Formats: sequence, structure tokens, C-alpha cells
Amino acid sequence: MRKKIVAGNWKMNTTIPEGKELIDGILSRQNEIPSDVQLIIAPPFTHLSLAYEKLAGSRIALSAQNCADQAKGAYTGEVSASMLVSAGCAYVILGHSERREYYGETSATLVRKMALALENGLKPIYCVGEKLEEREAGRHFEVVRTQIEEVLFGLNEEQLANVVIAYEPVWAIGTGKTATSEQAQEIHAFIRKTLAGKFGALAEEISILYGGSCKPSNARELFACKDIDGGLIGGASLKAEDFLGIATSY
Ligand code: PGA
Repeated sequence: MRKKIVAGNWKMNTTIPEGKELIDGILSRQNEIPSDVQLIIAPPFTHLSLAYEKLAGSRIALSAQNCADQAKGAYTGEVSASMLVSAGCAYVILGHSERREYYGETSATLVRKMALALENGLKPIYCVGEKLEEREAGRHFEVVRTQIEEVLFGLNEEQLANVVIAYEPVWAIGTGKTATSEQAQEIHAFIRKTLAGKFGALAEEISILYGGSCKPSNARELFACKDIDGGLIGGASLKAEDFLGIATSY
């Protein structure tokens, strides 16, 4: 059985007091989380230690939104994978389209980040997805395959088993436009087939999340699809009620 996962990517939102309130809101309703769903929150770096303390004893895991592509040293402004582990993170989001687009992250950078995350025991949530013009040109399968091949095909099976994949069509992120469940399922199945071509039966064990304007009103239809194992949630993860509403949409 693949793990069902709902992860909240807070992006660059909330001050520390606002973040505390949001965590308290989620914790106050944690008994609503189905026992087979792993809930994850990914607050900003500044909130991680505090979030870890608050989440102690809960079933909610902590993720960072990014990590450095170097282990340690003179890299001003960066945060390493080992620092994230020491702050209590179990997961790290890698390759989000906003990182690729605004901060020039390439597959080469992501290969290094992936290796460091795994070496340090973090489970990467690796994001892939095409831009609008790529979908309109019918290139979405090719774009996603390249993102998978370039960053994941160098891993061994033991490493891949710790990776979660998030398919996030860039045109659906923060736009209110969700991929239809058919469009999402089609790419999720394609990702699983691509993984199976390299890793065989292990592909069946990898959780593949959908991201892009996922909300309580559309999560159920998406999560009902055979190859969609959960969601990576941006905007709707900033309200405890919506986030929990999505987590209970299986
Ligand atoms: P969104 O963001 O839910 O606000 O569309 C998803 C994401 O970027 O992870």
C-alpha cells in the first residue's frame, strides 16, 4: 500500500506568531486526520524549530521548503540538509517550480540537493510539472519525463524508496485553475510508468502527490484517481480548516 500524504507548502507566508496560530489550529483538529494519512507541514526556515516543538507527540511531520546544494561552509544565506535534520525536519521539498523559475534551479543543482537530502536522512518531496506553453505545445509528457530522468534516475532503489513525487502543473499553481482529474491521473500514471521503466516494481510503492489549486472542493475527485496518492497544498494549507478538509478527502 502506498502512503497517502497531504503536505502543506506555506511558501513565504506567515510571521512567527501567525505560524504558531496556524499550527495550533491544525493541532486542535488533529483527531480528524484519518489514521492512514501522513500530514506534513512545510513552514519557512525561521519557523522550523518552533514548529518541531509544537508538533512533538503529534502525527504531523515537518518539512523544509528547500535545502542548500552544498554540505556546509562559506555559502552565505543557505541552509544545509544536516541543519534541517537538526531542526526536526523529516522531509524537504525540492525542485518546486518557483525555485526552478525564480532562483534558477536546474537539474544539476537538484541532483546535488537530492543527494545531500538523502545522505542526511531527509525524505525529498520532488516537484515536477510543465508550464502552460509546454502543455499547449503538447510537450508535457516530455518535460516531466526529463525532470524525472535527470534527477531521479541516478538514484539507487534504496534511495528512490525514500522519495515522494509531486506533480504540479505550473499553470495550476496559485491560479485557481486545477488540472482536471483526468489530466492529473494521466500524468501521474505516466510518471509511474517512467519510474517502472527504470526501477521496476518499486514504482508501485512511490507516493505521487498532485499540487496546483487543490482545495477541499476538488480534493476528493483528485484523490480518488488510481495514481494520485495525495496533495501538495499551497494556498489552502494556510487555513487550518481547508487543510484539514483536504486531508479528510480520501
Ligand atoms: P497552490 O500551490 O495550492 O497555491 O496552487 C501549490 C504549490 O505550489 O505547492
